[in-house]
Amino acid sequence: MASDPATIAPPPEAQDIVTDRYDGKYPIVIEGLQNAFGENVIHEDLALKVRRGEILGVVGGSGTGKSVLMRSIIGLQRPTAGKIEVFGRDITSAGPDEIIGVRNHWGVLFQGGALFSTLTVAENVEVPMKQFYPELTAELMHEIARYKVVLTGLPGEAASKYPSELSGGMKKRAGLARALALDPELLFLDEPTAGLDPIGAANFDKLIRDLADTLGLTVFLITHDLDSLYAICDRVAVLADKQVIAVGTIPELLESDHPWIQEYFNGPRSRAARDSRDRAAETTVAGDGDAHAQPAPALHDKITGA
Ligand SMILES: Nc1ncnc2c1ncn2[C@@H]1O[C@H](COP(=O)(O)OP(=O)(O)OP(=O)(O)O)[C@@H](O)[C@H]1O
Ligand SMILES: [Mg+2]
Repeated sequence: MASDPATIAPPPEAQDIVTDRYDGKYPIVIEGLQNAFGENVIHEDLALKVRRGEILGVVGGSGTGKSVLMRSIIGLQRPTAGKIEVFGRDITSAGPDEIIGVRNHWGVLFQGGALFSTLTVAENVEVPMKQFYPELTAELMHEIARYKVVLTGLPGEAASKYPSELSGGMKKRAGLARALALDPELLFLDEPTAGLDPIGAANFDKLIRDLADTLGLTVFLITHDLDSLYAICDRVAVLADKQVIAVGTIPELLESDHPWIQEYFNGPRSRAARDSRDRAAETTVAGDGDAHAQPAPALHDKITGA
């Protein structure tokens, strides 16, 4: 008999990660990072520390290297110099097999989503499980996948649908379900609300905030979306001039006189986002731009089984 998804415990290996060099404060530490493609230097002496439990917004003009930075952190892009430690493990010098013990502690939603089109949503969510926990039975994997799908606010039926049968907002949620497949502590999201209408984006933001709070996630959130920055980010890192030129809360960033920061955070779009955040504090988002998505207010109940 199928068990209630809410009662399924995560695989035991996916509990809190402990390594000898990780003090529990900074799951990501980057020092002296350089990335270059031939003559094209993208990052030069870049440093960044991500705090445990925060949602860190990562902003910067198009082409400043936000996605390349994320790919470096998850070991898909080998830097030309510098050091990146994730959970105290040096990602830059290790081979793929050596970081296997940390790779299963992060989840990634790539820019554009990138679901496998020939697999159903549930099968997509099962891909990382098959890779890291092949010993799980097919039935258990399917139960966990279904649970992750529901966790992201999708109806249970979405689990057996193919990506082509989903709306843009549903695809994002399905991608998020796959990113959550292994109960990660670290979540990387590259432009998750791009292409969503404002209400769909606001609801997706709320989902990320709820998941981060409830599951204790650390989130590396690349975004152009000023509303997301104001609504859900604890701090924001600004990429410009090949480096992270500032990290802080938005009020802290506003004290910088760097022209890009001033233009970005003091421009009319930013002021509109700030006003809308202030209005949202008074009212709550009523609908969802994605008509098929379920609101996720009972998230805590779903996780705890309450
Ligand atoms: N595999 C690659 N080979 C060569 N150049 C690359 C490669 N990947 C990225 N680049 C270059 O690195 C730079 C940074 O790219 P990246 O995708 O990180 O930008 P981004 O900040 O994420 O931009 P956007 O906001 O448009 O997503 C760009 O100039 C891009 O052309
Ligand atoms: Mg990008």
